[in-house]
Amino acid sequence: MAVGIFDSGLGGLTVWEAVRKRLPDLPLVYYADSAHAPYGVRDAEDVYRLTKAAVERIWEEGVDLVILACNTASAAALRRIQEEGLPPGKRVLGVFVPLIEALTERKWGDNSPPREVAVKHVALFATPATVASRAFQRELAFRAIGVDVEAQACGGVVDAIEEGDQILAEALVRSHVEALKRKMPNPEAAVLGCTHYPLLADVFQEALGADVKVFSQANLVAESLADYLERHPDMLGEGRENRFLTTGDARQVSDRATQFLRRKIAFQPA
Ligand code: DGL
Repeated sequence: MAVGIFDSGLGGLTVWEAVRKRLPDLPLVYYADSAHAPYGVRDAEDVYRLTKAAVERIWEEGVDLVILACNTASAAALRRIQEEGLPPGKRVLGVFVPLIEALTERKWGDNSPPREVAVKHVALFATPATVASRAFQRELAFRAIGVDVEAQACGGVVDAIEEGDQILAEALVRSHVEALKRKMPNPEAAVLGCTHYPLLADVFQEALGADVKVFSQANLVAESLADYLERHPDMLGEGRENRFLTTGDARQVSDRATQFLRRKIAFQPA
């Protein structure tokens, strides 16, 4: 009954942790494509190719449903993977929709026309590839009108986190928030559109100011997955084991993941 969680590296562990808390009995196969991280500086073709290969590898673990816990992959690869057609009984879901539902206060499956929502000025922090894809704005436009989105490509942040350089990561976040504020001085809400960023949520919040509501994905995705599995129990694959797989150096990735989640995590080679 395993579900797969995919990210280019460690960021998806923020989603893994939230899912673990929400669905403690659900076996999870976490896959980090650490050898090719970061994805955020790659072109869409590259992100598609790598994501597809990773998803196909995860199927082999007795998984029928894979969550792309990576905005870059959700933005650049998900639609193409879905449109090409998946093997029978397999599904891939991304992380944008639960976030946009929360931001626009709309429920899953609410397919009514886009309407005005409470929040008007939204700051989006994401990787260069996610920003370039405009996938967030596209998904938002299906649900809401009149929302002004200012996107800030946060170059370097994912690399700093993957390298375990917290000081650099924090400095970069502050400078990206400053750059955003020059373009949009008073955002009402900010979206952390990269699963690595919740690790720095406090830094984002402090730099943005207490009156800005910061949305991050982990809990929203976990809640949405619980709801999805209730409606589609057949999407629980036959795998029974919790596993952590990486295309990188398993020992190094395990050390960083253990530091990242503050609990022992042991990766195996994918
Ligand atoms: N966590 C991925 C995301 O949500 C990181 C992307 C990257 O590897 O640059 O976009």
